[in-house]
Amino acid sequence: MRRPILAGNWKMYKTPLETTAFFEKFRPLVADATHADIVICPPFVNLPAAADATRGTNIEVGGQNLYWANEGAYTGEVSAGMLRAAGCQWVIVAHSERREYFGETEETAFKKLCAALDAGLKPIYCVGERLHEHESNQTHEVLGRQLRGCVGYLTPEQFRGITVAYEPVWAIGTGKVATPEIASAAHSFIRDYIRRQFGAGAAEACRILYGGSVKADNIGGLMAEDQIDGALVGGASLDPVSFASIVNF
Ligand code: PGA
Repeated sequence: MRRPILAGNWKMYKTPLETTAFFEKFRPLVADATHADIVICPPFVNLPAAADATRGTNIEVGGQNLYWANEGAYTGEVSAGMLRAAGCQWVIVAHSERREYFGETEETAFKKLCAALDAGLKPIYCVGERLHEHESNQTHEVLGRQLRGCVGYLTPEQFRGITVAYEPVWAIGTGKVATPEIASAAHSFIRDYIRRQFGAGAAEACRILYGGSVKADNIGGLMAEDQIDGALVGGASLDPVSFASIVNF
């Protein structure tokens, strides 16, 4: 049995004060949840507030991005070690918005995964096809490329440290959630790739999350699929009540 992960990706929303207010409400709502890893990934400037508010609780904190160097003249960037020092255990890598607006590729994602693992972070590597790729049946081709070009270069030991998130771009922020069947088929494809690359044990152990318009009213159907090990949630993670209902699916 793989332990579920329910992760919130706040994207560029909330201030430090709003972060503190979120956790005041959220903490008691998930205090009894022992069935899953609960993760919130706020904007960088909110990490201290999130770390303070979650210390000693069952909630973990993650970054939404990182740079691969340890330190240096890289204006505007944040390293894996800095994320660790700020209280992060997790980090999202190559979210589709990073690929789309900030030119991230499989190659940069690979460097980020390595840096995150070296620093002891648990990276969540995002893959997923765009609408036109979905409509022209290229999903497997796109996922194959995103996996081979990045995960394919990890050692088996590195691979054990990562989580994969399948996030079809056409489902992100659109309200169009992938059906449990569509998501499950993509997850099976990803798990098959892992089996061929790293063996049956690694494929069985790897947690694959679904992301894209996950809400309290569709999480149950998604989690009923045994290929789906959790969710990466954008919009619905901003509200403590709605994210708590997702966690307590
Ligand atoms: P959404 O975003 O839940 O708002 O669709 C998911 C994501 O981008 O991680």
